[in-house]
Amino acid sequence: MTGPAGPPARFEEERSAEIVAASFARTADPRLREVLTALVGHLHAFVKDVGLTPEEWARGIRFLTETGQTCDDTRQEFILLSDVLGVSMLVDALAHPAGDGVTESTVEGPFHLVASPAREPGDSIVEAGDGEPCLVTGRVLDTAGVPVAGAAVDVWQADADGFYDVQRPGEVPRDNLRGVFPTDAEGRFRFRTIVPRWYPIPDDGPVGRLLAATGRHPNRPAHLHVEVTGPGIRTLTTHVFVSDSPYLDSDAVFGVRARLVRDFVRVDDPARAAEAGLPSPFRWLDFPVTVRRT
Ligand SMILES: [Fe+2]
Repeated sequence: MTGPAGPPARFEEERSAEIVAASFARTADPRLREVLTALVGHLHAFVKDVGLTPEEWARGIRFLTETGQTCDDTRQEFILLSDVLGVSMLVDALAHPAGDGVTESTVEGPFHLVASPAREPGDSIVEAGDGEPCLVTGRVLDTAGVPVAGAAVDVWQADADGFYDVQRPGEVPRDNLRGVFPTDAEGRFRFRTIVPRWYPIPDDGPVGRLLAATGRHPNRPAHLHVEVTGPGIRTLTTHVFVSDSPYLDSDAVFGVRARLVRDFVRVDDPARAAEAGLPSPFRWLDFPVTVRRT
C-alpha cells in the first residue's frame, strides 16, 4: 500500500485495479474508499473483458460528454441514462426491500417537479383535457393491517396524449392531473381522473440514440404515480400500471413490477357512475396500499 511519502505507483496491466485502489488508501471516508475501490475494480475488469479499443474509449467519452451537455434545469440526461440501464430501479429496489406485504416501490420519475395541490376526498384532478373517466379508490394500511389515518396520498399522471402538465406550460393548468388526498379514519382515499396514456421518455438526445442503436423503443406503459407520506410511516413511492396498456413487457426504464399492474375495470352502470360523479361508462381502479410504520 502506498504511504504518504511512498514512491508513485507504477502501472502494471495485470494489477491495474489493485494499483489504482491502493491510491485511495488515505481516503478519510471509509464508505467513499469502499465505493471507489469497487468502482475501479469493476471498471478495469470491464475494460479488460471487452478489450476496449482507444477508438471505443473515445466514443464512450464523447457519449458521456454529450449526456452532460444535454442536461439543464428541466432535463436530466444522466438520470435518464441511469433509468434506461436499469440502475435507477436497482438502487430503488435495494433501498426499499420487499417483504411483510409492503407495496412495492418504484422510482419517483422526473415529472414531480412541482408540489401537487391539496384536494378534497372525491375531487377530480382533471383541470383540462379529455380522456376516459376514471374513479380511483384505495386504502392505506400498515403491515399489521391497521388503517393509516391522516396520510397524504400524492398522485400525478400523464394525460390522454401522454403528457404531464409540466411538459405543456401555458397549454394546460399547471396542476392538471395531480393532487394530494388525505386518508380518512379508515385509511381510505378516493378521487376522480382519466385513464393515463403510455408515453415516450425524451429520446432526442444521447440516450435516445443509445435506444435507437440497440433497437429499443423509448416508451413507458401507462401508469399513475402514487406517493404516500404521513407521520409514523415510511414514505412509499410507487406506480400503478394500467393492465391493458402497451409496453408493459418492455418499459424503457424497467419500472414494471408484476404486482403493480392493475385492472382499471370498466363499469357500465349509470347508478354507480352517478354515485361516483362520473359519466357512464367509467373505469375503476382500486389500489390498496401497504406501508411500513417507522
Ligand atoms: Fe410517469
